[in-house]
Amino acid sequence: MSIENRSQTRAPSIGMRALRTDDLPQVLALQASVYPSSLLESGQVLASKISFVPAGWTSLAACDGDTLCAYALGYPWRSNLQPSWNRPLALQQDCDVLYLHDVAVSRAYAGRGIANALVSQLMRQGQQFGLSRAILIAVEGAQRYWSRLGFVAIPAASTDPAFGDDAVLMQRELTLPGAV
Ligand SMILES: CC(C)(COP(=O)(O)OP(=O)(O)OC[C@H]1O[C@@H](n2cnc3c(N)ncnc32)[C@H](O)[C@@H]1OP(=O)(O)O)[C@@H](O)C(=O)NCCC(=O)NCCS
Repeated sequence: MSIENRSQTRAPSIGMRALRTDDLPQVLALQASVYPSSLLESGQVLASKISFVPAGWTSLAACDGDTLCAYALGYPWRSNLQPSWNRPLALQQDCDVLYLHDVAVSRAYAGRGIANALVSQLMRQGQQFGLSRAILIAVEGAQRYWSRLGFVAIPAASTDPAFGDDAVLMQRELTLPGAV
């Protein structure tokens, strides 16, 4: 699958595929390059978030040859559970929302629409799994970025304090016209 948008002219070799546990060394390096140390999750936790998902579900990688330029980690989730930080994921039953846990783009590949393409594909996958809503926790001031993709803050919602003081729980319907 290739990333077909603004990135096509500027980075023609970038492709999208399922994120795998053997990507973990590059995922950990990318994570450490864009987040402060207080927001880094362990390899074991990230491996669980890639693996303990329903059959047929995948998180996504954007690759330039062998180089991981971005990843988007998301999975079906239950809206009555508060997402946690740096705790291993257990397979959930009766999921009703897509939880976009983490989207990170290497600085060398920023601004090419890669995050937008990965999020759009995860949302399409969520729809195929019968989910009608996506939620996420915006950290590090990313609320404005997510607003541009149609997410709105959920008023008075609390988040795991580990996500930081400025964390904001946001949501978006998956069925709105004009998907990202
Ligand atoms: C946020 C992030 C995923 C965007 O990736 P990307 O591939 O560069 O995004 P896109 O190319 O789809 O969109 C780029 C646009 O988003 C804007 N943008 C990027 N980060 C932003 C932020 N934190 N707040 C507001 N706008 C932001 C860029 O300025 C650019 O705007 P433009 O189109 O007007 O030039 C990337 O910057 C990143 O990995 N940041 C660090 C990790 C992070 O904060 N992830 C989200 C946590 S909830």
